[in-house]
Amino acid sequence: MTEQPIDPQNTKKVFIKTYGCQMNVYDSERMADVLAPLGYAESDAPDDADLVILNTCHIREKAAEKVYSELGRIRQLKTAREAESGDKMTVAVAGCVAQAEGAEIMRRAPVVDIVFGPGAYHKLPEMIARAERGNADPTQRQGRGVLNTEFPIEDKFDALPINRESATGLTAFLTVQEGCDKFCTFCVVPYTRGAEFSRPAQSVLDEAKALVARGVKEITLLGQNVNAYHGEGADGKDWSLGRLIHALAAIDGVERLRYTTSHPRDMDDDLINAHRDVDALMPYLHLPVQSGSNRILDAMNRKHTRDEYFALIDRIRDARPDIALSGDFIVGFPGENDRDFEDTMDLVRRVGYGSAFSFKYSPRPGTPGAALEWQVEEHKKDERLQALQALLREQQIGFNKSMIGKTLPVLLEREGRHQGQMVGRSPYLQAVHLDADHALLGQTIHVTVTDATQNSLTGKAVLK
Ligand code: 5AD
Ligand code: SF4
Repeated sequence: MTEQPIDPQNTKKVFIKTYGCQMNVYDSERMADVLAPLGYAESDAPDDADLVILNTCHIREKAAEKVYSELGRIRQLKTAREAESGDKMTVAVAGCVAQAEGAEIMRRAPVVDIVFGPGAYHKLPEMIARAERGNADPTQRQGRGVLNTEFPIEDKFDALPINRESATGLTAFLTVQEGCDKFCTFCVVPYTRGAEFSRPAQSVLDEAKALVARGVKEITLLGQNVNAYHGEGADGKDWSLGRLIHALAAIDGVERLRYTTSHPRDMDDDLINAHRDVDALMPYLHLPVQSGSNRILDAMNRKHTRDEYFALIDRIRDARPDIALSGDFIVGFPGENDRDFEDTMDLVRRVGYGSAFSFKYSPRPGTPGAALEWQVEEHKKDERLQALQALLREQQIGFNKSMIGKTLPVLLEREGRHQGQMVGRSPYLQAVHLDADHALLGQTIHVTVTDATQNSLTGKAVLK
């Protein structure tokens, strides 16, 4: 790996604020990787930053409004900084709101110098140079700043640095697939992230090796539809996610693998068998179903029924009996009546989740769902969300309590708040608190669980 020497006199600061999903977290890290060779070090506050990037989310309502109010605060900081020291601050809006709103952001918030979508961040150096020219001499400013909401995603992955300076912990995200062709009628992702694209397997394997070289032990593979992965393999054929997982698990130093987010339609035999055959693949699966009602599943364009989902869960549990399931649910999709909602509650009771996320339906401009009649009243959505969350909470507590007395492999990730305490992760993503020597950081040790709450476990290290 060649590292470019950075002149300390030339060190600049970038503050990146990330909203939304794990893919945005990954994208923010990769932006930092792209900026590092230009001398940018990451800062954890915007006050003294030369460059501020807001990496935004558009999945639910009010996301754009949050961005505009944050931009109001940034404008004040920028004015104060320029008045005090004369130093400039370049302001960029990235991510899915940038993709969806484009030039509208610059029109509404003139403080913004650069707007770029999720497919364009590899071009940051050139966008910053253009914006700085515009800031230094406003007559040079083309239009109202720099706008880049182009795809195609594949160019981005080819252009990103191979090293992963931004990976500093024991766990890391790795995007293998981006975009979505499913067009669920509630979802903006096919519009903000574009058509589905899978990275070639070799480029994923190279990045995984770069992560391991930085000390990473657990990798979570990311994609909006990660199990639709079909990247070109070393043999020139398309590889499934299951095949890719086998190859990743064979890399020395890759101890744990996870993937998210999956669609039930894409759980093929390769992937289900990988849960049976690959030790490094953790027995925890986030497999959103969204609703338990056939009528609503159809209206959502999910392309499967509840019985097909139950049959799928049976196959997965046959392959890996100790697997824990997680999911996403939407209540109050247009047309959802009490019976439909009861079907969702029934599905949750039948499947049993280790953890899950649930949301009130929020109509997204431009999606088919937003144009449907029979939008559900807000108070009904609230009622249903409360009932569903109470059930999911009960299941999560029950699942965590079922760990008491069991011995689990725990990857020790960080020091705890108390003297002599460490915090690690179970295979099921539960945080585990225990007393252990800090020298064990980064190791996976066996821990017998002694107590459990909704959010974490407590245990004792098993002495050999
Ligand atoms: N309204 C509410 N929830 C949504 N999600 C996606 N779009 C919407 C929407 N319009 C939820 C889904 C998805 C998760 C990431 O966000 O449950 O799986
Ligand atoms: Fe938000 Fe979805 Fe975009 Fe992720 S992909 S940033 S959740 S809109």
